[in-house]
Amino acid sequence: MVNASEFTRRRRQLMRMIGRGGVGILPAAPAKLRNRDVEYPYRQDSDFYYVTGFHEPESIAVLAPGRPQGEYVLFCRDRDPQREAWDGTRAGPERAVAEFGASDAFPISDVDDILPGILEQAERVYYTMGANPEFDTRLIGWVTALRNRGSPGTHAPDAFIGLEHMLHDQRLYKSRAELGCLRRSVAVAVGAHRRAMARCRPGLYEYEIEAEFLHEFRRNGLHPSYLPIVGSGPNACVLHYSANNRRMQDGDLLLVDAGCESDCYASDITRTWPVSGRFTPEQRAIYEVVLEAQGAALRAIAPGNHWNEPHDAAVGAIIRGLRRLGILEGTPAAIARNGDYRRFFMHRTGHWLGMDVHDVGDYKVGDQWRLLEPGMVMTVEPGIYIPPGTRGVARRWQGIGVRIEDDVLVTRGGIEVLSRNLPREPEEIEALVGTAA
Ligand code: GLY
Ligand code: MN
Ligand code: MN
Repeated sequence: MVNASEFTRRRRQLMRMIGRGGVGILPAAPAKLRNRDVEYPYRQDSDFYYVTGFHEPESIAVLAPGRPQGEYVLFCRDRDPQREAWDGTRAGPERAVAEFGASDAFPISDVDDILPGILEQAERVYYTMGANPEFDTRLIGWVTALRNRGSPGTHAPDAFIGLEHMLHDQRLYKSRAELGCLRRSVAVAVGAHRRAMARCRPGLYEYEIEAEFLHEFRRNGLHPSYLPIVGSGPNACVLHYSANNRRMQDGDLLLVDAGCESDCYASDITRTWPVSGRFTPEQRAIYEVVLEAQGAALRAIAPGNHWNEPHDAAVGAIIRGLRRLGILEGTPAAIARNGDYRRFFMHRTGHWLGMDVHDVGDYKVGDQWRLLEPGMVMTVEPGIYIPPGTRGVARRWQGIGVRIEDDVLVTRGGIEVLSRNLPREPEEIEALVGTAA
């Protein structure tokens, strides 16, 4: 759990960067309709939650450094016993102050009357444009109305500045409390992968394996952090497969990419295992190349190394491995140059991980790859995919898709693989699959 004092610290840090004369505006995620009268499960906007710790929709956080009546203003839904009888309790402005650290709070229904008065005092508005088009329009409307008043003595901010750069840089470095949330999320996902491996056997449908994940997530009070990918046989080669409706057969590989979310922090883990508990020689050969690539990438992560070093290392290992198996031809340098390996490894080796599965934070600073620093968390997930019908590849390799994905923290001394308790070695996987089937 992230406690109230950490949320205060985050706001203070952000306000230091915004500075006097600036005002930061963050809207909550809007609730979204799925179909008639049914909403999608509500998930708070990550930036808004990072700054407020507040779970409710229809809220707006305003950070106004130096504002005499209070620097942190929260607009939220007013108490309403009748609505609360249907939808559950609301904090209301009183608890927004008492429990969520707002220096001042107002009902969201008053925003048109109050927010322009705060904007009027500011020179610069810090806001992330484009993420919430409806709110963009309202905010531009408030500022334009102030400008149009134009009478002597009135004032309107004359600059819009992206809030995301400073906020996302802040989010890139995980605190001890955030790492606690990530560790919990990873631990539950590791348990789910173990459970699914143990219960796997030929004849089950992919959705039955998906159900093992959902069971384990919900049993722990968590939800998936993205649609689980449960791809058997040729479906393992479809990167964003999520139909999960094929019956698994003896001899298939099964690729499962599934993680969950604890207090808004995501895990993102992939394992690939033989449905029957035994790799065929071809499956094992490809698996070992991916495992070597992952090992090479992990060894390339250390403070001071740049973002792309793990990817370069994984690409190198995949090229060497696929040449050894006769799947790629040419010198390693030529294959790296002409990008031929991308037919089989068409995604990057990882991404930042945090409140968003593909978390925020720049990968480059200027035109240079970012240097890794302690507190950054990333995935390491090389893969090889050879769909059926791939031209120029012997048939015995076709239909094999393998990815191995772990979640990794950069530490002062090197790395900590957060998901290290989940088997990766082929023998360990074979020993686990089917043991509870
Ligand atoms: N599960 C999405 C990804 O691995 O990036
Ligand atoms: Mn993944
Ligand atoms: Mn990933």
